[in-house]
Amino acid sequence: MPTPRPTYDLVIAANRLPVDKVVTDDGEVEWRRSPGGLVTAMESVMRSQPGAWVGWAGDAGEAPEPFDEDGIHLHPVPLSTEEVRDYYEGFSNDTLWPIYHDVIVPATFHREWWSSYETVNRRFAEAVAEVAAEGATVWVQDYQLQLVPTLLRRLRPDVRIGWFNHIPFPPVELFAQLPWRAQLLEGLLGADFLGFQRQADARNFVRACRQLLGAQTKRDRVTVEGSRRQVRAAAIPISVDFRGLEELARRPDVMARAREIRASLGDPEVLMLGVDRLDYTKGIRHRLKAYEELLSERRIGPPEVTLVQVATPSRERVDAYRILRGEIEQTVGRINGELGKIGAPAVHYLHHSYPREEMAALFQAADVMLVTPLRDGMNLVAKEYVTCRHDLGGALVLSEFTGAWHELHQAFACNPHDIEGLKQTILRAINTPAKDKQRIMKALRRRVSDHDVQRWAARYLAALAAAPELPQPEARNTPTPHSVETPLMPGPSDSRSGSDGESYGESQGAARGEATGSRS
Ligand code: ADP
Ligand code: F6P
Repeated sequence: MPTPRPTYDLVIAANRLPVDKVVTDDGEVEWRRSPGGLVTAMESVMRSQPGAWVGWAGDAGEAPEPFDEDGIHLHPVPLSTEEVRDYYEGFSNDTLWPIYHDVIVPATFHREWWSSYETVNRRFAEAVAEVAAEGATVWVQDYQLQLVPTLLRRLRPDVRIGWFNHIPFPPVELFAQLPWRAQLLEGLLGADFLGFQRQADARNFVRACRQLLGAQTKRDRVTVEGSRRQVRAAAIPISVDFRGLEELARRPDVMARAREIRASLGDPEVLMLGVDRLDYTKGIRHRLKAYEELLSERRIGPPEVTLVQVATPSRERVDAYRILRGEIEQTVGRINGELGKIGAPAVHYLHHSYPREEMAALFQAADVMLVTPLRDGMNLVAKEYVTCRHDLGGALVLSEFTGAWHELHQAFACNPHDIEGLKQTILRAINTPAKDKQRIMKALRRRVSDHDVQRWAARYLAALAAAPELPQPEARNTPTPHSVETPLMPGPSDSRSGSDGESYGESQGAARGEATGSRS
Protein backbone atom coordinates (compact mmCIF):
# COMPACT_ATOMS: atom_id res chain seq x y z
CA MET A 1 0.00 0.00 0.00
CA PRO A 2 1.47 3.43 -0.90
CA THR A 3 2.26 5.61 2.12
CA PRO A 4 -0.18 8.53 2.34
CA ARG A 5 1.33 11.94 1.56
CA PRO A 6 1.95 14.16 4.60
CA THR A 7 -0.53 16.96 5.14
CA TYR A 8 0.07 20.44 6.59
CA ASP A 9 -1.77 22.86 8.87
CA LEU A 10 -0.49 25.85 6.89
CA VAL A 11 -0.44 25.77 3.10
CA ILE A 12 0.69 28.60 0.82
CA ALA A 13 -0.45 28.55 -2.80
CA ALA A 14 1.47 30.87 -5.11
CA ASN A 15 2.06 30.83 -8.85
CA ARG A 16 5.77 30.27 -8.27
CA LEU A 17 7.66 28.13 -5.79
CA PRO A 18 10.42 30.07 -3.99
CA VAL A 19 12.93 28.31 -6.26
CA ASP A 20 12.95 27.88 -10.04
CA LYS A 21 14.17 24.72 -11.74
CA VAL A 22 16.83 25.62 -14.30
CA VAL A 23 18.40 23.09 -16.66
CA THR A 24 21.92 24.32 -17.49
CA ASP A 25 23.56 23.95 -20.94
CA ASP A 26 25.30 20.76 -19.83
CA GLY A 27 21.98 19.22 -18.75
CA GLU A 28 22.45 19.71 -14.99
CA VAL A 29 19.38 20.65 -12.93
CA GLU A 30 19.89 23.70 -10.71
CA TRP A 31 17.42 25.35 -8.34
CA ARG A 32 17.62 29.15 -8.31
CA ARG A 33 15.76 31.69 -6.20
CA SER A 34 12.63 32.86 -8.04
CA PRO A 35 12.29 36.57 -8.90
CA GLY A 36 9.93 39.04 -7.28
CA GLY A 37 8.73 40.51 -4.03
CA LEU A 38 6.21 37.77 -3.28
CA VAL A 39 8.97 35.18 -2.92
CA THR A 40 11.18 37.54 -0.87
CA ALA A 41 8.37 38.11 1.62
CA MET A 42 6.75 34.68 1.80
CA GLU A 43 10.05 32.83 2.02
CA SER A 44 11.01 34.61 5.22
CA VAL A 45 7.54 33.99 6.66
CA MET A 46 7.59 30.28 5.82
CA ARG A 47 11.11 29.68 7.12
CA SER A 48 9.86 30.47 10.64
CA GLN A 49 6.86 28.10 10.69
CA PRO A 50 6.21 24.61 9.36
CA GLY A 51 4.08 24.42 6.26
CA ALA A 52 3.76 23.51 2.60
CA TRP A 53 4.16 25.73 -0.48
CA VAL A 54 2.23 24.75 -3.59
CA GLY A 55 3.51 26.38 -6.79
CA TRP A 56 5.00 26.11 -10.25
CA ALA A 57 8.69 25.19 -10.59
CA GLY A 58 9.25 27.72 -13.39
CA ASP A 59 9.70 25.43 -16.40
CA ALA A 60 7.25 23.70 -18.72
CA GLY A 61 6.51 19.99 -18.55
CA GLU A 62 6.17 17.42 -15.81
CA ALA A 63 6.42 18.67 -12.24
CA PRO A 64 9.31 17.46 -10.08
CA GLU A 65 8.36 15.24 -7.11
CA PRO A 66 7.52 17.17 -3.92
CA PHE A 67 10.60 17.90 -1.82
CA ASP A 68 11.64 19.73 1.34
CA GLU A 69 13.95 22.74 1.34
CA ASP A 70 14.98 24.99 4.24
CA GLY A 71 12.19 23.49 6.35
CA ILE A 72 9.46 24.21 3.76
CA HIS A 73 7.64 21.38 1.99
CA LEU A 74 7.57 22.32 -1.71
CA HIS A 75 4.77 20.79 -3.77
CA PRO A 76 5.29 21.54 -7.50
CA VAL A 77 2.32 22.00 -9.84
CA PRO A 78 2.99 21.22 -13.52
CA LEU A 79 2.34 23.65 -16.37
CA SER A 80 2.50 22.56 -20.00
CA THR A 81 4.19 24.71 -22.65
CA GLU A 82 0.75 25.91 -23.80
CA GLU A 83 -0.24 26.75 -20.21
CA VAL A 84 2.92 28.77 -19.66
CA ARG A 85 1.96 30.69 -22.80
CA ASP A 86 -1.79 31.03 -22.13
CA TYR A 87 -2.21 31.03 -18.33
CA TYR A 88 1.08 32.64 -17.21
CA GLU A 89 2.36 34.87 -20.03
CA GLY A 90 -1.10 35.38 -21.51
CA PHE A 91 -3.97 35.77 -19.05
CA SER A 92 -1.91 36.53 -15.92
CA ASN A 93 0.64 38.88 -17.45
CA ASP A 94 -0.91 40.24 -20.65
CA THR A 95 -4.56 40.50 -19.52
CA LEU A 96 -4.71 40.91 -15.74
CA TRP A 97 -1.35 42.63 -15.14
CA PRO A 98 -2.07 45.62 -17.43
CA ILE A 99 -5.66 45.99 -16.18
CA TYR A 100 -4.51 45.88 -12.54
CA HIS A 101 -1.74 48.44 -13.27
CA ASP A 102 -3.77 51.32 -14.71
CA VAL A 103 -3.52 50.02 -18.31
CA ILE A 104 -0.02 51.48 -18.72
CA VAL A 105 0.11 49.19 -21.76
CA PRO A 106 -3.00 47.82 -23.51
CA ALA A 107 -4.51 44.61 -22.14
CA THR A 108 -5.13 41.69 -24.47
CA PHE A 109 -8.22 39.48 -24.16
CA HIS A 110 -8.30 35.94 -25.52
CA ARG A 111 -10.91 33.36 -24.60
CA GLU A 112 -8.42 30.49 -24.80
CA TRP A 113 -6.17 32.28 -22.30
CA TRP A 114 -9.09 32.47 -19.89
CA SER A 115 -9.84 28.81 -20.38
CA SER A 116 -6.22 27.95 -19.55
CA TYR A 117 -6.38 30.21 -16.45
CA GLU A 118 -9.43 28.27 -15.24
CA THR A 119 -7.74 24.91 -15.87
CA VAL A 120 -4.57 25.88 -14.04
CA ASN A 121 -6.47 27.42 -11.10
CA ARG A 122 -8.42 24.16 -10.79
CA ARG A 123 -5.15 22.22 -10.76
CA PHE A 124 -3.79 24.44 -7.98
CA ALA A 125 -6.99 23.97 -5.95
CA GLU A 126 -6.70 20.18 -6.31
CA ALA A 127 -3.02 20.23 -5.31
CA VAL A 128 -3.81 22.32 -2.21
CA ALA A 129 -6.70 20.00 -1.29
CA GLU A 130 -4.21 17.12 -1.36
CA VAL A 131 -1.67 18.63 1.04
CA ALA A 132 -3.95 20.55 3.45
CA ALA A 133 -4.63 18.85 6.77
CA GLU A 134 -8.19 18.76 8.19
CA GLY A 135 -9.09 22.32 9.24
CA ALA A 136 -5.85 23.73 7.77
CA THR A 137 -5.21 27.37 7.00
CA VAL A 138 -4.68 27.94 3.29
CA TRP A 139 -3.15 31.21 2.15
CA VAL A 140 -3.58 31.83 -1.57
CA GLN A 141 -1.33 34.48 -3.16
CA ASP A 142 -1.82 37.02 -5.89
CA TYR A 143 -3.66 37.66 -9.13
CA GLN A 144 -2.62 34.45 -10.87
CA LEU A 145 -4.82 32.37 -8.52
CA GLN A 146 -8.05 34.33 -8.10
CA LEU A 147 -10.31 31.35 -8.80
CA VAL A 148 -8.63 29.07 -6.25
CA PRO A 149 -10.60 30.23 -3.17
CA THR A 150 -14.00 29.15 -4.52
CA LEU A 151 -12.68 26.02 -6.24
CA LEU A 152 -10.93 24.98 -3.05
CA ARG A 153 -13.95 25.69 -0.85
CA ARG A 154 -15.96 23.25 -2.96
CA LEU A 155 -13.32 20.56 -2.49
CA ARG A 156 -12.45 21.28 1.12
CA PRO A 157 -15.11 23.22 3.03
CA ASP A 158 -13.26 22.35 6.25
CA VAL A 159 -10.27 24.66 5.55
CA ARG A 160 -9.87 28.35 6.30
CA ILE A 161 -9.06 30.24 3.10
CA GLY A 162 -7.25 33.56 2.78
CA TRP A 163 -6.04 35.39 -0.31
CA PHE A 164 -3.57 38.25 -0.53
CA ASN A 165 -3.09 40.48 -3.56
CA HIS A 166 0.52 41.61 -3.96
CA ILE A 167 -0.40 44.02 -6.75
CA PRO A 168 -3.00 46.81 -6.90
CA PHE A 169 -6.70 45.98 -7.30
CA PRO A 170 -8.00 48.28 -10.04
CA PRO A 171 -10.86 50.77 -9.90
CA VAL A 172 -14.13 49.24 -11.10
CA GLU A 173 -14.03 51.32 -14.29
CA LEU A 174 -10.90 49.41 -15.39
CA PHE A 175 -11.80 46.05 -13.84
CA ALA A 176 -15.14 46.14 -15.66
CA GLN A 177 -13.35 45.78 -19.00
CA LEU A 178 -12.56 42.16 -18.19
CA PRO A 179 -15.01 39.86 -19.97
CA TRP A 180 -14.56 37.42 -17.02
CA ARG A 181 -14.98 40.03 -14.29
CA ALA A 182 -17.85 38.23 -12.55
CA GLN A 183 -16.05 34.89 -12.50
CA LEU A 184 -12.96 36.52 -10.99
CA LEU A 185 -14.97 38.18 -8.22
CA GLU A 186 -16.91 34.97 -7.54
CA GLY A 187 -13.62 33.10 -7.43
CA LEU A 188 -12.26 35.42 -4.75
CA LEU A 189 -15.45 35.37 -2.70
CA GLY A 190 -14.72 31.73 -1.86
CA ALA A 191 -12.17 33.07 0.63
CA ASP A 192 -12.87 33.93 4.27
CA PHE A 193 -10.59 36.94 4.20
CA LEU A 194 -9.10 38.96 1.34
CA GLY A 195 -5.99 41.03 1.97
CA PHE A 196 -4.81 44.01 -0.09
CA GLN A 197 -1.83 46.36 -0.07
CA ARG A 198 -3.80 49.61 0.29
CA GLN A 199 -7.21 50.57 1.58
CA ALA A 200 -8.02 51.89 -1.88
CA ASP A 201 -7.46 48.38 -3.30
CA ALA A 202 -9.80 46.81 -0.75
CA ARG A 203 -12.40 49.49 -1.46
CA ASN A 204 -12.08 48.92 -5.21
CA PHE A 205 -12.77 45.23 -4.67
CA VAL A 206 -15.84 45.82 -2.48
CA ARG A 207 -17.17 48.35 -4.95
CA ALA A 208 -16.65 45.93 -7.86
CA CYS A 209 -18.68 43.27 -5.99
CA ARG A 210 -21.47 45.77 -5.39
CA GLN A 211 -21.58 47.21 -8.87
CA LEU A 212 -20.74 44.20 -11.01
CA LEU A 213 -22.28 41.34 -8.99
CA GLY A 214 -25.05 43.26 -7.25
CA ALA A 215 -23.68 41.88 -3.98
CA GLN A 216 -24.71 43.39 -0.66
CA THR A 217 -21.81 45.21 0.93
CA LYS A 218 -21.31 46.94 4.23
CA ARG A 219 -18.04 48.77 4.87
CA ASP A 220 -15.34 46.10 4.39
CA ARG A 221 -17.78 43.14 4.15
CA VAL A 222 -19.35 41.50 1.12
CA THR A 223 -22.25 39.09 1.58
CA VAL A 224 -22.04 36.13 -0.76
CA GLU A 225 -25.26 35.64 -2.67
CA GLY A 226 -27.04 32.34 -1.99
CA SER A 227 -25.29 31.76 1.34
CA ARG A 228 -25.07 33.68 4.58
CA ARG A 229 -21.32 33.91 4.30
CA GLN A 230 -19.64 37.25 4.63
CA VAL A 231 -16.20 37.96 3.24
CA ARG A 232 -14.01 40.70 4.65
CA ALA A 233 -11.66 42.71 2.42
CA ALA A 234 -9.04 44.85 4.17
CA ALA A 235 -5.60 46.38 3.73
CA ILE A 236 -2.59 44.73 5.37
CA PRO A 237 0.50 46.11 3.62
CA ILE A 238 3.35 43.66 3.10
CA SER A 239 6.89 44.29 4.29
CA VAL A 240 10.44 42.94 4.50
CA ASP A 241 12.38 40.85 7.00
CA PHE A 242 13.86 43.94 8.68
CA ARG A 243 15.97 42.16 11.29
CA GLY A 244 17.27 39.45 8.94
CA LEU A 245 18.19 41.90 6.20
CA GLU A 246 19.69 44.44 8.57
CA GLU A 247 21.85 41.73 10.07
CA LEU A 248 23.05 40.84 6.59
CA ALA A 249 23.75 44.49 5.78
CA ARG A 250 25.82 44.85 8.97
CA ARG A 251 28.09 41.96 8.05
CA PRO A 252 31.69 43.18 7.59
CA ASP A 253 32.03 41.39 4.22
CA VAL A 254 28.84 43.08 2.91
CA MET A 255 30.00 46.50 4.12
CA ALA A 256 33.42 45.92 2.55
CA ARG A 257 31.71 44.94 -0.70
CA ALA A 258 29.72 48.21 -0.62
CA ARG A 259 32.99 50.15 -0.41
CA GLU A 260 34.44 48.02 -3.18
CA ILE A 261 31.46 48.77 -5.44
CA ARG A 262 31.95 52.50 -4.94
CA ALA A 263 35.68 52.23 -5.55
CA SER A 264 35.17 50.26 -8.75
CA LEU A 265 32.83 53.01 -9.96
CA GLY A 266 35.59 55.58 -9.40
CA ASP A 267 34.35 56.71 -5.95
CA PRO A 268 31.69 59.09 -7.31
CA GLU A 269 30.41 61.90 -5.10
CA VAL A 270 26.86 60.73 -5.75
CA LEU A 271 25.97 57.17 -6.66
CA MET A 272 22.36 56.76 -7.74
CA LEU A 273 20.73 53.34 -7.93
CA GLY A 274 17.65 51.77 -9.52
CA VAL A 275 16.71 48.12 -8.86
CA ASP A 276 13.66 46.77 -10.64
CA ARG A 277 12.31 43.82 -12.56
CA LEU A 278 12.42 45.02 -16.16
CA ASP A 279 8.71 45.88 -16.10
CA TYR A 280 6.87 48.82 -17.67
CA THR A 281 5.14 49.49 -14.34
CA LYS A 282 8.46 50.46 -12.72
CA GLY A 283 8.91 53.80 -14.48
CA ILE A 284 12.47 53.04 -15.61
CA ARG A 285 12.05 55.04 -18.83
CA HIS A 286 10.76 58.08 -16.92
CA ARG A 287 13.70 57.84 -14.53
CA LEU A 288 16.21 57.63 -17.38
CA LYS A 289 14.56 60.59 -19.12
CA ALA A 290 14.85 62.77 -16.01
CA TYR A 291 18.46 61.67 -15.52
CA GLU A 292 19.36 62.28 -19.18
CA GLU A 293 17.92 65.80 -19.03
CA LEU A 294 19.81 66.60 -15.84
CA LEU A 295 23.01 65.46 -17.57
CA SER A 296 22.29 67.36 -20.80
CA GLU A 297 21.59 70.52 -18.83
CA ARG A 298 24.92 69.95 -17.04
CA ARG A 299 23.26 70.12 -13.64
CA ILE A 300 24.92 66.83 -12.78
CA GLY A 301 27.34 64.60 -14.65
CA PRO A 302 29.91 61.82 -14.53
CA PRO A 303 32.37 61.14 -12.99
CA GLU A 304 31.01 63.05 -9.93
CA VAL A 305 27.54 61.54 -10.35
CA THR A 306 26.71 58.15 -11.81
CA LEU A 307 23.72 55.82 -12.01
CA VAL A 308 23.65 52.05 -11.57
CA GLN A 309 20.48 50.54 -13.00
CA VAL A 310 19.86 46.88 -12.15
CA ALA A 311 17.10 45.63 -14.44
CA THR A 312 16.17 42.08 -13.53
CA PRO A 313 15.11 39.87 -16.47
CA SER A 314 11.33 39.34 -16.36
CA ARG A 315 8.59 37.80 -18.56
CA GLU A 316 10.82 38.09 -21.59
CA ARG A 317 8.46 36.40 -24.04
CA VAL A 318 5.61 38.85 -23.44
CA ASP A 319 5.68 41.50 -26.20
CA ALA A 320 5.39 44.55 -23.94
CA TYR A 321 8.41 43.36 -21.93
CA ARG A 322 10.46 42.63 -25.03
CA ILE A 323 9.70 46.07 -26.42
CA LEU A 324 10.51 47.75 -23.10
CA ARG A 325 13.87 46.00 -22.90
CA GLY A 326 14.77 47.26 -26.37
CA GLU A 327 13.76 50.81 -25.46
CA ILE A 328 15.67 50.82 -22.18
CA GLU A 329 18.82 49.39 -23.68
CA GLN A 330 18.69 51.86 -26.56
CA THR A 331 18.23 54.75 -24.14
CA VAL A 332 21.12 53.60 -21.94
CA GLY A 333 23.31 53.29 -25.05
CA ARG A 334 22.35 56.81 -26.16
CA ILE A 335 22.96 58.36 -22.73
CA ASN A 336 26.37 56.71 -22.45
CA GLY A 337 27.26 57.52 -26.05
CA GLU A 338 26.33 61.19 -25.76
CA LEU A 339 26.93 62.01 -22.11
CA GLY A 340 29.43 59.48 -20.75
CA LYS A 341 33.22 59.89 -20.59
CA ILE A 342 36.09 57.47 -21.06
CA GLY A 343 36.22 55.41 -17.87
CA ALA A 344 33.11 57.17 -16.54
CA PRO A 345 29.89 55.95 -18.15
CA ALA A 346 26.80 57.87 -17.10
CA VAL A 347 24.73 54.68 -16.60
CA HIS A 348 25.95 51.27 -15.48
CA TYR A 349 23.26 48.93 -16.75
CA LEU A 350 23.08 45.39 -15.34
CA HIS A 351 20.60 42.81 -16.62
CA HIS A 352 21.25 40.10 -14.01
CA SER A 353 19.97 38.55 -10.81
CA TYR A 354 22.25 38.80 -7.78
CA PRO A 355 22.59 37.08 -4.40
CA ARG A 356 21.03 38.84 -1.41
CA GLU A 357 24.48 39.87 -0.11
CA GLU A 358 25.25 41.74 -3.34
CA MET A 359 21.86 43.49 -3.26
CA ALA A 360 22.48 44.59 0.35
CA ALA A 361 25.92 45.90 -0.62
CA LEU A 362 24.47 47.82 -3.58
CA PHE A 363 21.85 49.41 -1.32
CA GLN A 364 24.55 50.45 1.12
CA ALA A 365 26.69 51.87 -1.61
CA ALA A 366 23.93 54.07 -3.08
CA ASP A 367 23.56 57.73 -2.05
CA VAL A 368 20.23 58.11 -3.82
CA MET A 369 17.79 55.25 -4.43
CA LEU A 370 15.41 55.90 -7.32
CA VAL A 371 12.07 54.11 -6.91
CA THR A 372 9.83 55.64 -9.58
CA PRO A 373 7.03 53.20 -10.55
CA LEU A 374 3.98 54.40 -12.43
CA ARG A 375 2.01 51.89 -10.37
CA ASP A 376 3.24 49.29 -7.88
CA GLY A 377 1.33 47.25 -5.28
CA MET A 378 4.02 47.85 -2.65
CA ASN A 379 7.65 47.97 -3.90
CA LEU A 380 9.77 46.05 -1.44
CA VAL A 381 12.97 47.47 -2.91
CA ALA A 382 12.14 50.80 -1.22
CA LYS A 383 11.77 49.05 2.15
CA GLU A 384 14.91 46.98 1.59
CA TYR A 385 16.92 50.12 0.87
CA VAL A 386 16.01 51.81 4.15
CA THR A 387 16.51 48.53 6.03
CA CYS A 388 20.08 48.29 4.74
CA ARG A 389 20.90 51.92 5.70
CA HIS A 390 21.77 51.26 9.35
CA ASP A 391 24.38 54.00 8.89
CA LEU A 392 21.47 56.45 8.30
CA GLY A 393 23.11 57.42 5.01
CA GLY A 394 21.36 57.69 1.67
CA ALA A 395 18.15 59.21 0.37
CA LEU A 396 15.04 57.52 -1.01
CA VAL A 397 13.24 59.05 -4.00
CA LEU A 398 9.82 57.35 -3.96
CA SER A 399 6.91 57.47 -6.38
CA GLU A 400 3.50 58.41 -4.98
CA PHE A 401 2.08 55.54 -7.03
CA THR A 402 3.63 52.79 -4.93
CA GLY A 403 2.03 51.11 -1.94
CA ALA A 404 5.27 51.89 -0.06
CA TRP A 405 4.66 55.64 -0.35
CA HIS A 406 1.55 55.30 1.84
CA GLU A 407 3.83 54.22 4.67
CA LEU A 408 7.05 56.07 3.84
CA HIS A 409 5.75 59.62 3.61
CA GLN A 410 9.03 61.17 4.73
CA ALA A 411 10.82 59.94 1.59
CA PHE A 412 11.55 62.37 -1.29
CA ALA A 413 8.17 61.92 -2.96
CA CYS A 414 7.82 62.17 -6.74
CA ASN A 415 5.26 61.91 -9.51
CA PRO A 416 7.25 60.08 -12.21
CA HIS A 417 4.97 61.41 -14.97
CA ASP A 418 6.13 64.92 -14.10
CA ILE A 419 9.67 64.80 -15.51
CA GLU A 420 10.47 68.37 -14.45
CA GLY A 421 9.27 67.62 -10.92
CA LEU A 422 11.21 64.35 -10.86
CA LYS A 423 14.39 66.21 -11.83
CA GLN A 424 13.85 68.70 -8.99
CA THR A 425 13.25 65.86 -6.53
CA ILE A 426 16.43 64.07 -7.59
CA LEU A 427 18.40 67.29 -7.10
CA ARG A 428 16.78 67.79 -3.71
CA ALA A 429 17.68 64.23 -2.68
CA ILE A 430 21.28 64.95 -3.68
CA ASN A 431 21.56 68.41 -2.11
CA THR A 432 19.62 68.14 1.15
CA PRO A 433 22.10 68.46 4.06
CA ALA A 434 23.31 65.12 5.44
CA LYS A 435 21.85 65.88 8.88
CA ASP A 436 18.35 66.29 7.48
CA LYS A 437 18.69 63.17 5.38
CA GLN A 438 19.74 61.22 8.47
CA ARG A 439 16.64 62.41 10.31
CA ILE A 440 14.47 61.30 7.39
CA MET A 441 16.20 57.93 7.12
CA LYS A 442 15.72 57.35 10.84
CA ALA A 443 11.98 57.90 10.52
CA LEU A 444 11.74 55.64 7.46
CA ARG A 445 13.66 52.88 9.22
CA ARG A 446 11.47 53.14 12.31
CA ARG A 447 8.39 52.55 10.18
CA VAL A 448 9.80 49.48 8.41
CA SER A 449 11.28 48.07 11.60
CA ASP A 450 7.93 48.37 13.41
CA HIS A 451 5.99 46.97 10.45
CA ASP A 452 8.16 44.14 9.22
CA VAL A 453 7.13 41.03 7.31
CA GLN A 454 6.73 38.94 10.48
CA ARG A 455 4.23 41.47 11.79
CA TRP A 456 2.49 41.50 8.41
CA ALA A 457 2.11 37.70 8.41
CA ALA A 458 0.92 37.66 12.04
CA ARG A 459 -1.64 40.40 11.33
CA TYR A 460 -2.82 38.65 8.19
CA LEU A 461 -3.21 35.25 9.84
CA ALA A 462 -4.99 36.80 12.85
CA ALA A 463 -7.41 38.59 10.50
CA LEU A 464 -8.00 35.34 8.63
CA ALA A 465 -8.64 33.44 11.86
CA ALA A 466 -11.07 36.15 13.02
CA ALA A 467 -12.83 36.50 9.66
CA PRO A 468 -16.60 36.92 9.99
CA GLU A 469 -17.77 33.41 9.19
CA LEU A 470 -16.37 30.07 10.22
CA PRO A 471 -16.61 27.36 7.53
CA GLN A 472 -20.23 26.17 7.32
CA PRO A 473 -20.55 22.55 8.48
CA GLU A 474 -23.86 22.15 6.60
CA ALA A 475 -22.14 23.11 3.34
CA ARG A 476 -19.57 20.32 3.77
CA ASN A 477 -19.32 18.04 0.75
CA THR A 478 -17.34 14.87 0.28
CA PRO A 479 -13.71 15.86 -0.14
CA THR A 480 -12.83 12.96 -2.48
CA PRO A 481 -12.33 12.66 -5.36
CA HIS A 482 -10.40 15.94 -5.42
CA SER A 483 -11.60 17.42 -8.66
CA VAL A 484 -13.91 20.29 -9.59
CA GLU A 485 -15.55 20.19 -12.97
CA THR A 486 -18.40 22.66 -12.57
CA PRO A 487 -17.84 26.21 -13.84
CA LEU A 488 -17.51 28.91 -11.21
CA MET A 489 -20.34 31.02 -12.59
CA PRO A 490 -23.01 29.47 -14.74
CA GLY A 491 -24.23 31.94 -17.35
CA PRO A 492 -23.60 35.63 -17.91
CA SER A 493 -24.71 37.07 -14.58
CA ASP A 494 -22.17 39.87 -14.43
CA SER A 495 -24.21 42.83 -15.55
CA ARG A 496 -26.64 43.32 -12.67
CA SER A 497 -26.76 46.77 -11.18
CA GLY A 498 -25.61 47.41 -7.63
CA SER A 499 -27.86 46.96 -4.62
CA ASP A 500 -27.14 50.50 -3.51
CA GLY A 501 -28.52 51.90 -6.74
CA GLU A 502 -25.05 52.72 -8.03
CA SER A 503 -24.61 50.85 -11.28
CA TYR A 504 -21.49 50.40 -13.34
CA GLY A 505 -23.13 52.16 -16.29
CA GLU A 506 -23.31 55.37 -14.30
CA SER A 507 -19.64 55.52 -13.51
CA GLN A 508 -17.76 54.17 -16.44
CA GLY A 509 -16.78 57.57 -17.80
CA ALA A 510 -13.58 57.60 -15.81
CA ALA A 511 -12.28 54.43 -17.43
CA ARG A 512 -9.26 54.58 -19.68
CA GLY A 513 -10.90 52.10 -22.00
CA GLU A 514 -9.60 53.81 -25.12
CA ALA A 515 -6.11 52.56 -24.21
CA THR A 516 -7.00 48.88 -24.23
CA GLY A 517 -6.72 46.58 -27.20
CA SER A 518 -9.33 43.85 -27.15
CA ARG A 519 -9.00 40.70 -29.19
CA SER A 520 -10.80 37.48 -28.75
P1 ADP B 1 8.22 42.99 -7.75
O1 ADP B 1 7.58 42.04 -6.81
O2 ADP B 1 7.28 43.69 -8.66
O3 ADP B 1 9.37 42.39 -8.51
P2 ADP B 1 9.38 44.37 -5.40
O4 ADP B 1 10.20 45.62 -5.33
O5 ADP B 1 8.24 44.34 -4.45
O6 ADP B 1 8.90 44.20 -6.92
O7 ADP B 1 10.27 43.12 -5.09
C1 ADP B 1 11.42 42.81 -5.84
C2 ADP B 1 12.29 41.85 -5.06
O8 ADP B 1 13.23 41.26 -5.95
C3 ADP B 1 13.08 42.51 -3.97
O9 ADP B 1 13.21 41.62 -2.88
C4 ADP B 1 14.44 42.77 -4.63
O10 ADP B 1 15.53 42.85 -3.74
C5 ADP B 1 14.55 41.56 -5.51
N1 ADP B 1 15.37 41.84 -6.71
C6 ADP B 1 15.13 42.77 -7.65
N2 ADP B 1 16.07 42.74 -8.60
C7 ADP B 1 16.93 41.78 -8.24
C8 ADP B 1 18.13 41.25 -8.82
N3 ADP B 1 18.63 41.73 -9.98
N4 ADP B 1 18.76 40.24 -8.19
C9 ADP B 1 18.26 39.76 -7.03
N5 ADP B 1 17.14 40.20 -6.44
C10 ADP B 1 16.48 41.19 -7.04
O1 F6P C 1 4.35 40.85 -6.85
C1 F6P C 1 4.04 40.75 -8.16
C2 F6P C 1 4.63 39.55 -8.87
O2 F6P C 1 3.96 39.30 -10.02
C3 F6P C 1 4.61 38.27 -8.10
O3 F6P C 1 3.45 37.55 -8.26
C4 F6P C 1 5.79 37.58 -8.66
O4 F6P C 1 6.43 36.82 -7.70
C5 F6P C 1 6.72 38.69 -9.10
O5 F6P C 1 5.95 39.80 -9.28
C6 F6P C 1 7.58 38.29 -10.27
O6 F6P C 1 6.83 37.98 -11.43
P1 F6P C 1 6.93 36.59 -12.18
O7 F6P C 1 6.58 35.52 -11.19
O8 F6P C 1 5.97 36.70 -13.29
O9 F6P C 1 8.35 36.45 -12.64
